[in-house]
Amino acid sequence: MMRQPVVIANWKMNMSFTGACDFGKRLPEMLGEVSGLDLVICAPFVVLAELSLLLEGTPFFLGAQNMHWQKEGALTGEISPLMLREVGVKYVIIGHSERRTLFGEDDATVRKKIASAFAYGLTPIFCIGENWEQRSAQKTKQLLKEQLCSALQGLKQEENILQKLIIAYEPIWAIGTGNPAGAEDALDAAFFIRSVLAEIWGDLAQKIRVIYGGSVTPDNITEFTNLQEIDGALVGGSSLKVADFAALVQAVWHERRS
Ligand code: PGA
Repeated sequence: MMRQPVVIANWKMNMSFTGACDFGKRLPEMLGEVSGLDLVICAPFVVLAELSLLLEGTPFFLGAQNMHWQKEGALTGEISPLMLREVGVKYVIIGHSERRTLFGEDDATVRKKIASAFAYGLTPIFCIGENWEQRSAQKTKQLLKEQLCSALQGLKQEENILQKLIIAYEPIWAIGTGNPAGAEDALDAAFFIRSVLAEIWGDLAQKIRVIYGGSVTPDNITEFTNLQEIDGALVGGSSLKVADFAALVQAVWHERRS
């Protein structure tokens, strides 16, 4: 089963407006010839509309880092899936560990957001992963299974919609630490994630992309993406400089062509 690789930038709460515009202009120039990869930039809300104009006609898609599950309402400070779609957003990160640990998002919230993203035509980038304590206690697989089942079981959508889902395995201890998971561990998790998906959705599991995130750099990205089970990467720190992000994408592109 050939799944198209995907490389996703997650800028988090970084990048000025002018910095984002500069990035949006320079990146397509640097990577004009790249094809056969899905490329996504998940930017802060306030730069999405402008970035959308800059990325039009380029191979880059726009993503948001969070959203509310309702389409409108008295929800001060929240952003709805319809608002995102209207400015050209196609992807949305759901359940990032920073949302879970710092902003109290639980599995029930994540489930509502994933269902809503699909319902409003956005592709969820669904993040799961264990912290160090859970890993040390050998609870990683149990946790991954719980996170997957609570978000995905019983989701009412057509298969051709569900198959767009991207699952990012992001061990929390590897995020922003400069200490990525070993390729073996990431591979083990990706296999396990796909086996749980197969329990929930049967053959559809083979079509769903499972990517790795956590201290990915231009130097280490292909250690993950050269594994057949790992379909790309979610990149935080190394996506903030246009040269770094271009180097990441180029590394995956060269590897897939060779
Ligand atoms: P990092 O972040 O690449 O800076 O470790 C990844 C993420 O949190 O998505």
